[in-house]
Amino acid sequence: MSVRILQFGLSGQLGQELIRQADGEVEIAVLSRADADLANAAACAARVRESDADLVVIAAAYTAVDLAETERDLAFAVNAETPAAIAAACAETGKALVNFSTDYVFDGTKASAYLPGDPTAPLNVYGASKQAGEAAVLAACDRALILRTSWVVSAHGKNFVKTMLRLARGGQSPKVVDDQVGRPTSAADLAGFVLAQAQTLASAQGGAPVFGLHHFANAGETSWRGLAQAVFDEALGDETREVAPIATADWPTPAARPARGVLDTTSLEATFGVSPRPWRAALSDIIGDLAELEQA
Ligand SMILES: NC(=O)c1ccc[n+]([C@@H]2O[C@H](COP(=O)([O-])OP(=O)(O)OC[C@H]3O[C@@H](n4cnc5c(N)ncnc54)[C@H](OP(=O)(O)O)[C@@H]3O)[C@@H](O)[C@H]2O)c1
Repeated sequence: MSVRILQFGLSGQLGQELIRQADGEVEIAVLSRADADLANAAACAARVRESDADLVVIAAAYTAVDLAETERDLAFAVNAETPAAIAAACAETGKALVNFSTDYVFDGTKASAYLPGDPTAPLNVYGASKQAGEAAVLAACDRALILRTSWVVSAHGKNFVKTMLRLARGGQSPKVVDDQVGRPTSAADLAGFVLAQAQTLASAQGGAPVFGLHHFANAGETSWRGLAQAVFDEALGDETREVAPIATADWPTPAARPARGVLDTTSLEATFGVSPRPWRAALSDIIGDLAELEQA
């Protein structure tokens, strides 16, 4: 029997990929922002209570990292209060839950990759709101999986890869920050993982190892400049141009960002038997998807 999924979030990178990849194994009911505003916790919890889904997936979030510095209340409402209310409604009505968090819960000072249990210390409001969401969701529901991810990119929505591709094709040679390091992650790979685990999550008991905190990020690490250069190389081939490095200090932003937000995925690999592929391979697919979308 297919797993019934209630998905919050229609238009984002992850939301789009979940919809695109849904097959006969899952039946997804999607709630757009108009159907369920995550600023309204009670309304979102009511949508969970009235649903007959086995699994709830929160693919919507307040993701405007810089704007969050001046919209703290909204960021906390969307990323912490509402996920907590959804988690409580899941616990009440026997549904499993998947929500997503970020490497920005860490301060980026650890020399090696971050494990799920490492102490969190967000540098910005967005990271703090996601940290609060993690804790509140896990406290409210023992059948919740929180997947921390990083540097999400895809053929959909607004993201770094699409911006760099536009600059590459437009003949521009940007300067890009080279002293922030992380693991780029394909929204398609993340969505594929969630859908592949839907049956397992829908049937697992509370407290099973598949629940709790795990990290999902494509393998390998790079800087934003490294990612930009890879986009240029992939898109322009022999005609590629140099993407020049700059320091974070030369590109001031309202929100501070961790210097090394590298997520360790060994708990995911041990628990689910899945190893995310290298980010370069995922990037090639995204650029291929974009070419197809442009031709369609
Ligand atoms: N993007 C990244 O680099 C990154 C990195 C680490 C973790 N994450 C996490 O990964 C998850 C998926 O991110 P993503 O990249 O798919 O995000 P995204 O592309 O920025 O999409 C965010 C989605 O949330 C929706 N949304 C925002 N505020 C809402 C509200 N008040 N009510 C209902 N919907 C609302 C947006 O709807 P509208 O289109 O109507 O605004 C959009 O569908 C999030 O939990 C995010 O925090 C992302």
